[in-house]
Amino acid sequence: MFYTTCVVILVLQISLSDAAFDACTNYTSMKYVDRRAVQNQLEIGSINPISDDFLESGWYRIESAAGENMPTEPPGSLRCGTWYPIWLNGTLPTTIGEEIVGQVCLQGFTKNCSLTWNIDIKYCSGDYLVYNLVRSETTSSGYCFGTEAVTATIETPSTSIATNTDDPINGILSYLYSLF
Ligand SMILES: *[C@@H]1O[C@H](CO)[C@@H](O)[C@H](O)[C@H]1NC(C)=O
Ligand SMILES: *[C@@H]1O[C@H](CO)[C@@H](O)[C@H](O)[C@H]1NC(C)=O
Ligand SMILES: *[C@@H]1O[C@H](CO)[C@@H](O)[C@H](O)[C@H]1NC(C)=O
Repeated sequence: MFYTTCVVILVLQISLSDAAFDACTNYTSMKYVDRRAVQNQLEIGSINPISDDFLESGWYRIESAAGENMPTEPPGSLRCGTWYPIWLNGTLPTTIGEEIVGQVCLQGFTKNCSLTWNIDIKYCSGDYLVYNLVRSETTSSGYCFGTEAVTATIETPSTSIATNTDDPINGILSYLYSLF
């Protein structure tokens, strides 16, 4: 009896540790981020651009009124609530379970693709995407998601501090760094 129990526990432990990591169920939610929409144009001098040089790398699900898709065309500089928007130079996965390695580009002022690196993107059952975002190495750069900026949380010169729920301290710090 004791022996049988041990075997059962052993088998259970093996199957648990072998269980594949599933990004579709193990992700961090990034909510209310319509500031990251392509149409959200940052005012020059804004003190709180999105700054994904502070982002913790890992799997994210975007839940934004502006949409969850990373743009696949250059958004233009100062879009997406940041100085250097990050976009996908490729195509998003479209079938359930499909996982791709996509090349992202850092949008510069003169180049559409100043820097590149790769991220994983997976299409999950339930019709949502998860992105394995990698921390950016550039100050005041940020991943873009969605198209239209639809709510009052978008960037405006007069209300940018008050409405910034996306880590205001980091935003201010990154602006200070960018002055040099
Ligand atoms: C979920 O992800 C975290 C961070 O990547 C990891 O530490 C944890 O073991 C994962 N859990 C499962 C069930 O895969
Ligand atoms: C950047 O992309 C835009 C939109 O696709 C395009 O119109 C423009 O010519 C590109 N600029 C450069 C320098 O390639
Ligand atoms: C996008 O990637 C392709 C190669 O896959 C490359 O030829 C093209 O120049 C890239 N686009 C930009 C804007 O750099």
